[in-house]
This record gives sequence, C-alpha cells and structure tokens, in this order.
Amino acid sequence: MTPGDEVVAEVEGLLKERRILVAVGGGIAAYKACEAVRLFVRAGAEVHVAMTRAAQEFVAPLTFQALSQRPVATDLLSPAEEQQIGHIGLADRAELVVVAPTTADLAARIRMGVADDIVTAALLATTAPVLLAPAMNVHMWEHPATRENWEVLRSRGYQQVGPDSGAMACGHTGDGRLAEPWDIVRAAARMLAPKDLAGRKVIVTAGPTREFFDPVRFVSNPSSGRMGYAIASAALARGAEVLLISGPVSLSAPADAELLPVETAAEMAQAVQERVEGADLVVMAAAVGDYRPQHVASHKLKKSPGAETVVFERTEDILVMLGAHFEDAPERPLLAGFAAETEHVVEHAREKLERKKVDAIVANFVGEGGAFGSDENEVVIVTREGTTTLKRASKERIAWQILDALVPRVVRR
Ligand code: CTP
Repeated sequence: MTPGDEVVAEVEGLLKERRILVAVGGGIAAYKACEAVRLFVRAGAEVHVAMTRAAQEFVAPLTFQALSQRPVATDLLSPAEEQQIGHIGLADRAELVVVAPTTADLAARIRMGVADDIVTAALLATTAPVLLAPAMNVHMWEHPATRENWEVLRSRGYQQVGPDSGAMACGHTGDGRLAEPWDIVRAAARMLAPKDLAGRKVIVTAGPTREFFDPVRFVSNPSSGRMGYAIASAALARGAEVLLISGPVSLSAPADAELLPVETAAEMAQAVQERVEGADLVVMAAAVGDYRPQHVASHKLKKSPGAETVVFERTEDILVMLGAHFEDAPERPLLAGFAAETEHVVEHAREKLERKKVDAIVANFVGEGGAFGSDENEVVIVTREGTTTLKRASKERIAWQILDALVPRVVRR
C-alpha cells in the first residue's frame, strides 16, 4: 500500500460526503495540492477548489477540475463564476477549508483580512475551521514578518500541518516544504472527526526509560515513542485534554499536549501517580524498564581490566500500581496497557489483563518485522469482553483504531 492508499483507508469514515474547500496558493508546491485533492476525492469527500491568480501560473485550473470533478473557482470578479457558486457560496458550503500551499504572501494577506481574490475572499467569508499547510523558502518561513503573521493566525484558531523539513525546489534545505499530501488529508480528517473525548482527561506514557548505573551510562530499550505519541495526537484530535509523560525520544510532542519529560521508571511512576487523579483514560504505551541497577554510582565508573558485574533490581510496575490503586475506587480511569509478545499473544495478554487488573491490553507482536522502532504496528486489543485484531498499518492509524475501541468504554462509565 502506498502512503496515499493507507491514509484513504484510514480516513474514509471521517471524510465521506464532507464538504471541503481546497484553497491553492501560488507556489511550486501547488503541484502537491493536486495529489491532496485526489486523495480527498478518493476518500469520498465533496471537494471544491479555489485558486489564487499566482497558483494558476503553476498549475492549470483544468487539472484541479479533472481531479475534483467540479468547476474550479479562479476569479472573484467573473460574472459566470459568481453565478455558479461564488465566493460566499464556497465559504458557506465548506465544512473545512484547507489552504495548500499557504505561501508567505498568502499567509500575510489572510492575516490582514485582505479579500481581493477568490481565495482570500472565501477565507474571510467562511466560518468553517481552516487548516493551513505552509510551503515557502526556509528564510521566508523564518522571517520575523512570517513568524508574526503565523502567531496571529494560530491565535485565531487556524490549524497547521507541516511544514516538513528537507530539500526545497529553491535549492535550500530546511523547514518550509509542504507537508506530504497524505499528511494534509489526515490532518484535515482529524479536524472533522467527532470530538468523542471532549472534556476528558487522557494520560499517555510513551518512549523508553533509562536506568542509570553511573551519571553517564544507562540501560534502555529501542522504543521510539511513536506509538504513544500517535495515541496522544489521536486523543487530542478527538477533543481530549492530553498529558504526555514521555521518556527520552527524538519526536516533537503534538502541539496542545502537555508534555512531562521523564527519564527513569521511578520518575515515570511518580509522574503518573501525581497526575492520575481525575483522569478518564490512562494509556501506558511506554516501554518501561523492568529492571534498574541496584546501585547508581555518584561518579563515572572507571574501566578496569576483566569483566564487570551490574546487579539489577525490579522497578515498580506502574500499571500494577494503578490497577491496585483503583481496584475498588468508585471513579476510576479506564486503564490500558501494552504488551510486547513474540508468541501466544492473546493468552499472554489475557494473563496480563487479569494480573495487572486493567481494562485493556494492547498486545504488540514484536517478533521479526515487529513494532520496535518501526513505522508500522500490528496489534490485538484484549479486554474482558473479547479481542479485536487490528491488521498491520501505520502507527497513526493503529492509534486511531485503539481509541475507537477504548473510547466507548470511557464515555460509558
Ligand atoms: N509497565 C509498567 N511499569 C513497568 C513495566 C511495564 O507500567 N515497570 C507497563 C508498560 O507500559 C506496558 C505494560 O506494562 O503497558 C507492559 O507489561 P509487561 O509486563 O512489562 O509486559 P512485557 O513488556 O510484554 O513483558 P513480559 O512479557 O516480560 O512481562
């Protein structure tokens, strides 16, 4: 499956028959907006396209017309176009507006409330949520004028996807590439998703822990944190207030999540304990170290000839602590843990569910080609009511599906 196919399958349920206005700005990245439109249409959305004058220098309106299967709005002052749907019609009809690419100039004009072409006029007239997908030269992106425009746009509630980092058409390398079309489509779908976690507090733990035996050496594991971070962003998209308690990873936390960085299993346990009261859902996606060195040297251990022995002791099992703490509590969060298994996945997960007194175990297959460090995952969700198997897919998609399974249980309580 290509990333495009994957995202279409992921968001079909969210985008079917939803009315999306794609506003195309004038930059070389306009060609990538074609693919975004194609994916929106494949996912069942009703797509209208509006183009700035500059955008039409990069891609012909006919291209977007063929892809969206609808006439393209190009001219605010065209009697024929205004007769058809017009800028107010476009603005009113849209349930979501996606501006891709949002060039530096277009961002500045939206910020100022300019309405001198079909795109800016529709944006000024719409009350629908707006997703901006910036694309510009890295220096333009970093310029104080653009930074300020962007701050203002964000403070008005405009959402953002990208920019990505990498080589750009202008020859520079850095931040400023348009987000990939499938990432734009996913971000748009999430804006339209039902807010079934609105008003709910969700705690997600993610990443590995580090168990030090001297100030500069530790024992850890290769968890990337991607699964937990994907769950945190999915929960945010569904309206939750999210606390992300994270071991050291190289990912940036989703905007709007409260990030609480920790290093050791003991720090993670303490953070969870301090913050769990009032939570509606706790997802322990972190790969918490099961053992830590019994002694931590206060100075760097010098090497000496021959073998060295480090004695390990068990860390506290955070899930077990939570399961016990809430066992008879009248109001308890839904508790979900993960399990890494190489065989007898469901049996082991069931055993963990009972032993740790939790509500769900998401069992990962970590054999060859399994989850650790990979972009994809394949899991079975085990609850007391039964099992749900999620077939191999991106961690973003799996995260969404895990919440599909967990959220009804949270809301029912
Ligand atoms: N966990 C925890 N505290 C620990 C260790 C693990 O809360 N000290 C949580 C993890 O975040 C995860 C689940 O428990 O949600 C994993 O359970 P674990 O028993 O460690 O399972 P496996 O890693 O699969 O290990 P094993 O099969 O060896 O027991």
